[in-house]
Amino acid sequence: MNLKEVVKLADDLVFYRTGKHLNDLQEKILHGTWEDEDYKEIAKAVNLSEARVREVGMELWQSLSQELGEKVSKSNFRSAMERLQISIYSKYFSPQDSVQIGCINYCGEAKYLTNTPNSTQSKEQTSNPQQTKTSYQDLSEMPELGDFFDRTPQLQTLTTWILQQHSRLITLTGISGIGKTSLAVQLVQQIKNEFEYAVWYTLDEFPTIDKFQSNLIQLFSNSEKQDSSPTNQKRLPLIKYLQNHRCLIVLDDVHNLFCSGELAGKYKPEYEEYRSLFKQIEKLSHQSCFLLIGWEQPREVTQVKNQNTPIRTLQLKGLDIAAGREILRDCGLEEIDNSEALIHRYQGNPFWLKSVATLIQELGIGAAELLIDDTILLPEDLKDVLQQQFDRTSELEKQVMSLLARENQPVNLAKLLEKGQISSSDLLNALQSLSRRCLIEKEGSLYTISPVLKQYIKGL
Ligand SMILES: Nc1ncnc2c1ncn2[C@@H]1O[C@H](COP(=O)(O)OP(=O)(O)OP(=O)(O)O)[C@@H](O)[C@H]1O
Ligand SMILES: [Mg+2]
Repeated sequence: MNLKEVVKLADDLVFYRTGKHLNDLQEKILHGTWEDEDYKEIAKAVNLSEARVREVGMELWQSLSQELGEKVSKSNFRSAMERLQISIYSKYFSPQDSVQIGCINYCGEAKYLTNTPNSTQSKEQTSNPQQTKTSYQDLSEMPELGDFFDRTPQLQTLTTWILQQHSRLITLTGISGIGKTSLAVQLVQQIKNEFEYAVWYTLDEFPTIDKFQSNLIQLFSNSEKQDSSPTNQKRLPLIKYLQNHRCLIVLDDVHNLFCSGELAGKYKPEYEEYRSLFKQIEKLSHQSCFLLIGWEQPREVTQVKNQNTPIRTLQLKGLDIAAGREILRDCGLEEIDNSEALIHRYQGNPFWLKSVATLIQELGIGAAELLIDDTILLPEDLKDVLQQQFDRTSELEKQVMSLLARENQPVNLAKLLEKGQISSSDLLNALQSLSRRCLIEKEGSLYTISPVLKQYIKGL
């Protein structure tokens, strides 16, 4: 191992930990140390005090120790680097293979970083053509995206949270059909190459944690090719892989983890282990991101916005008027006079708009006629999705929604208490849960329910 290689290796390690490359003094200290010079000699060569050089040296050894997971000092620097080099080249004989040291992936041949450091310099790193990022992707469960109209602000928000703020756990919730899955597909397509692993799992009705974890660990261990003999493959706990690699893991339809007939976000007993997993994702230090999509989010994930936590939540609202018009046009409802009113009434929900536009198209009912008398059409497929969400609510929530559906105007808490004969604590819990499910809206201190839901509940 020559001096140039040593400095390059140390530079990579320090860059990963601190986001900064070695400065001139640090390089000189490495040179001197490699040549068996003491601090006094190094200090003389750089024309600085011995104390200053010693101080910078100590910081440098500390960074290297943290990254290598063993104590590195001036006296053992040479042997530590030589051991590191041996472990890189003896374990991984194929030039295509890579080795994980601390949090850094080294490629066998070129010895360059393939990971994105936790720093603002990450963009420069990835844009350097000499530096590639191996990307393993399992996106077989990710749906294909059809026409996709403007969600630029939401895409920007999610991208900032994930790539710049390194959020570890993000929830994307919203009423059925609002476009959560479509938004996430678009996001994944845009940012997947920033990750070593990008994975999409849609949780079915029986999403056991064993199945989920083993699928994921299988992907990691296959791609790592740690040993050609499968019996020798060492499987680590999931969190270790998330610490060692930068992964984007999308879980769609997470509401399948939660109980029906209860307030939102209560784990079914058989899926309690997901709680511990998500807790680890939130609390432990790692470089990966989980994006949870669904009608509900875990109860412990609050809606309170706090920039200091690694958790973020986005409640998706409907499309704007322009995008809503595009949807109507796609469905064959060309420029209709009252398209704006129609989009408002269906809250810019792309699925609702598609459903009602298809019905109008098929029956040939004049859209204007429909809009004049404020009729809310509820096609069968729209009713089906509303029913699925309504059926998941608790008795208390159903009671509150029925109360709201009877009101012509938004109402305050006092009125709800008076009309509902529910204890204030139960009422508040129900309102919180309904608002987390996006089934009610809050305007200041007033609560209301959308015209579509109102119509659906009245028809029950
Ligand atoms: N931005 C968009 N532009 C155009 N169409 C969209 C957009 N977002 C969603 N859609 C369409 O609306 C429908 C519902 O979208 P999507 O499946 O993403 O909703 P969802 O919120 O994931 O619903 P669910 O909760 O039922 O899974 C789909 O047909 C989708 O193609
Ligand atoms: Mg979806």
